[in-house]
Amino acid sequence: MRNVVDDIVAEVVAVCRENRAGALADYIPELAAVAPDTFSLCIATTDGYVYESGDPAIEFTIQSISKPFTYGLALSDRGLAAVAAKIDVEPSGEPFNEISLDPITERPRNPMINAGAITSASLIAGEDAAERFERLRTCFSDYAGRELVMNDAVYASEARTGHRNRAIGHMLRSFDIITDNPDDAVDLYFRQCSIDITCRDLALMAATLANNGTNPVTQQRVLAPDLVERVLSVMTTCGMYDAAGDWVAEVGLPAKSGVGGGVLAVLPGQIGIAVHSPRLDSHGNSVRGVQACRELSKKLELHFM
Ligand code: DON
Repeated sequence: MRNVVDDIVAEVVAVCRENRAGALADYIPELAAVAPDTFSLCIATTDGYVYESGDPAIEFTIQSISKPFTYGLALSDRGLAAVAAKIDVEPSGEPFNEISLDPITERPRNPMINAGAITSASLIAGEDAAERFERLRTCFSDYAGRELVMNDAVYASEARTGHRNRAIGHMLRSFDIITDNPDDAVDLYFRQCSIDITCRDLALMAATLANNGTNPVTQQRVLAPDLVERVLSVMTTCGMYDAAGDWVAEVGLPAKSGVGGGVLAVLPGQIGIAVHSPRLDSHGNSVRGVQACRELSKKLELHFM
């Protein structure tokens, strides 16, 4: 039976659909080939109910929204202290792909920029590259509550063109933040970014974080509550890159965006929100994704900070 949230979700989609601003990411050739105007919005509650509107079954690559989940797995594998010794939790105010370390700590400033995310990938446990990726893919699948797979074409496109990320990997190796072969960590990062999801998957991944690390549909525990707290804190301060301040002021929820056009936001204890719309603003955030979250936050009074 439809209720007031169904109506609000449909209303927000109708309003934001008019917005054709922004451009597709084109620095990875395969991302420039997607349909630019698809749009979906899903909300999943911590009791497992999903509200959806638009085209929620369209698949797109998770891209940078993978970063908090890989960070969470690194925290589970190595513990808070070992990860904190490698990755800070300070907002950088820099673009996501900045080739930079904090000049004082000589660590990546946070796990949401590429330098921190490649470091998180280097901390995933496993005997070899295949096992590390499989653990990561299974972990993402557990958040979504269904088997997720990598998009081979996007992975190949990113691996062919990802020179800047390789430069970041080798910089991390030269500062001993990564102590193994940096190309392995960068390859795992390319693979994690190329996992295909739907907007509904993303809403359930967000709802798992909102539900203290337990998937609200399958009831599987994916991340310990104290680590969820850490992941959500870093998403709050760093998830929207150099637009993080505006986001906190206007939407007020921990969030993460990706250049595939996805945005994920979390209202702890209550709901996970996901939007997909591929046209991006100058920060690399989905234009309609940001607009839809702003509208929803206002209409449902979600701003909790
Ligand atoms: O590092 C990259 O280039 C991408 N695969 C992921 C970047 C991304 O999604 C940035 N977010 N807005």
